[in-house]
Amino acid sequence: MKRIFSGIQPTGSVTLGNYIGALKQFVELQNEYDCYFCIVDEHAITVPQDRLELRENTRKLAALYLAIGLDPEKNTIFIQSEVPAHTQAGWLLQCISYIGELERMTQFKDKSHGKEGVSSGLLTYPPLMAADILLYNTDIVPVGDDQKQHIELTRDLAERFNKKYSDILKIPEISLPKVGARIMSLQEPLKKMSKSDPNKKATITLLDDPKQIEKKIKSAVTDSEGIVKYDKENKPGVSNLLSIYSIFSHKTIGEIESMYEGKGYGDFKSGLAEVVLNEIKPIQERFYELLESSELDDILDRGAEKANIEANRMMKKMLNGMGLGRKRR
Ligand code: AQP
Repeated sequence: MKRIFSGIQPTGSVTLGNYIGALKQFVELQNEYDCYFCIVDEHAITVPQDRLELRENTRKLAALYLAIGLDPEKNTIFIQSEVPAHTQAGWLLQCISYIGELERMTQFKDKSHGKEGVSSGLLTYPPLMAADILLYNTDIVPVGDDQKQHIELTRDLAERFNKKYSDILKIPEISLPKVGARIMSLQEPLKKMSKSDPNKKATITLLDDPKQIEKKIKSAVTDSEGIVKYDKENKPGVSNLLSIYSIFSHKTIGEIESMYEGKGYGDFKSGLAEVVLNEIKPIQERFYELLESSELDDILDRGAEKANIEANRMMKKMLNGMGLGRKRR
């Protein structure tokens, strides 16, 4: 069976962007692949976090992984900081990364732009992400479009390591969703929807209550034309809403355009709210049941145990390859 690895940061409440770009793919892939799904809490601390909130968000994300339908019997679900090999391998890969290539990462530029006191971790987190992936002999990484550049760097680092030291790292492929690889902000449709966006009206989260969701969709920025039509360049707001509608209703964009021909944005937005709620409500019910259960801790313990065994195996090979410490068998 081919291997999948992916992770999400516990940096806030999971958005429709994270769900469509990453989580929905996880659910679809779990039957065909050997999957490792991680909660990347060490990535979260590249920007300031409240420690209590971070811990709460980590647990919530684990519960959400299960609530969307990931089966713990089929997948290895674990927390990054509970597998120390990630930071160790991250350091090794940092030492073969160039400052210039890390400074070119769009996410670094976006997250550091205009900020004072930017942590060095924000710059060096892509090699840590590469370590997350490469430790597990990963074949495929399902992510949203914003992570494309990081996956390309991961491939470059693996090739560099193999050439320089020892040919042990597998070169992973990226998997992007066919529709919705980049869901945009509801308020600024030229900007991606992000869980850490301070403007809460810009994002829909999987844990928003139904009234909030309806309100956010109603106030989503569109245009003054009043025609439901996909045109990413001239109608980015409407096009973004159409993509979300299509994904949740399993209808094509053309079918949705026909459904709302001659009707205004009001009807379209009400229809969208309905399809979004149909998908989210059962997830929320299961989420609240799981959050308080001891089942969640058992699953995370088992996941960490399995991930540690797998990651330590590759770690040993990397250390040997680089000539670090005594030769390990
Ligand atoms: N808007 C989006 N559309 C589609 N996919 C998206 N992803 C994120 N935003 C969108 C995908 O979700 C996964 C989660 O990645 P992450 O938590 O490691 O960090 P991120 O990509 O930086 O996501 P956020 O929501 O923007 O988090 P913050 O605000 O903390 O930076 C990835 O697969 C990503 O591609």
